[in-house]
Amino acid sequence: MARIGGDTRLRERQDHLPGMGVWSTVGSVAAAPRPPTNGAMNSLLECDAPAHDWYRFVLSFPPHLVREYAGRFELGQDAVVLDPFCGTGTTLVESKKLGIASIGVEAMPMSKFAAEVKTDWSPDPDALASHANLVAEKASARLAADQLSDEPGASRSEGRVRLRGLDADAAKLLIKHSISPLPLHKALVLREALQGEYAAGISGHERLAFARVLPTEVGNLRFGPEVGVGSVRDDAAVVAPWLDRVRSMVEDLRVLGERDETAARVVAGDARAVSSCVPAESVDAVITSPPYPNEKDYSRTVRLESVLLGYLTDRASLRSTKRELLRSNTRGVYRDDDDSAWVADDERVQ
Ligand SMILES: C[S@@+](CC[C@H](N)C(=O)[O-])C[C@H]1O[C@@H](n2cnc3c(N)ncnc32)[C@H](O)[C@@H]1O
Repeated sequence: MARIGGDTRLRERQDHLPGMGVWSTVGSVAAAPRPPTNGAMNSLLECDAPAHDWYRFVLSFPPHLVREYAGRFELGQDAVVLDPFCGTGTTLVESKKLGIASIGVEAMPMSKFAAEVKTDWSPDPDALASHANLVAEKASARLAADQLSDEPGASRSEGRVRLRGLDADAAKLLIKHSISPLPLHKALVLREALQGEYAAGISGHERLAFARVLPTEVGNLRFGPEVGVGSVRDDAAVVAPWLDRVRSMVEDLRVLGERDETAARVVAGDARAVSSCVPAESVDAVITSPPYPNEKDYSRTVRLESVLLGYLTDRASLRSTKRELLRSNTRGVYRDDDDSAWVADDERVQ
């Protein structure tokens, strides 16, 4: 299926994406400067923030890696790139920035959603900005009606208001202390405002900004690289950081919107069945990082936002999602698994 390389000559393009100037000439991808140290190699460069920084997880690889491979493989703008484990969509976003079409496959619904939104640069920035303001006003008014404030420590009725919580089945899925009761209440109020003001073509971006702020700005999680609980805060702002994230998306869309023409398709599913969604001989290069076989549990990394956005609702939904994943973690191994069948004929792993 993969026809990697070929003699396609890269077209030189002068682009004018603010903050992306260093990378703007597709033909010089391979020669583009890279971050100097190993630690920095894996972090997101400021010039890469547009779209990539709408949502990422600690296991995402950096965009400059995709640029480097696109350059080495001499992928032109007629090429198609596949990422069968696309996660939050780094390969797809970066390919789209380079004007290269791409397809991603992802088994975790939350990550698939992130990849989809990050490659959708079609929303009208002004419409998104004014809609987000409306949602923020509704959420703030709802909090104020209960004498609660989005500002940490400024709620006058704390302890007297019955706080909202998740239903029992969903609550059981959360990592203990991943979010404190008052920030959870505020997050559920914002979620209700998002649902009540649903707008096609816009709400996905607002929901992704919600997912973006949940783990570390609203919740108590930290990543290093395993997900764990850091210092537990009793209160945190929710509406304000969410609105900040949406506003940052709005600024990105003002620039990215002009480049929305390059196709990026995200498919929900199992990479092992990739031939069911990707026609044979249709892909020029595969740029991917498969699940790490060292006890990484991809369902835990995105657990808080998966539960709050409704992608995981109870143990049964968690289990069925985990069964789609490659077994990179012993928590994802089940008694009646038949995964050994995948490697039965491969002597190297017998
Ligand atoms: C190392 S991460 C890839 C991260 C990605 N490069 C990014 O930038 O976000 C591996 C991804 O493979 C996904 N995955 C695991 N098993 C899968 C399967 N059977 N089919 C498709 N995706 C799968 C995981 O959910 C995870 O998002």
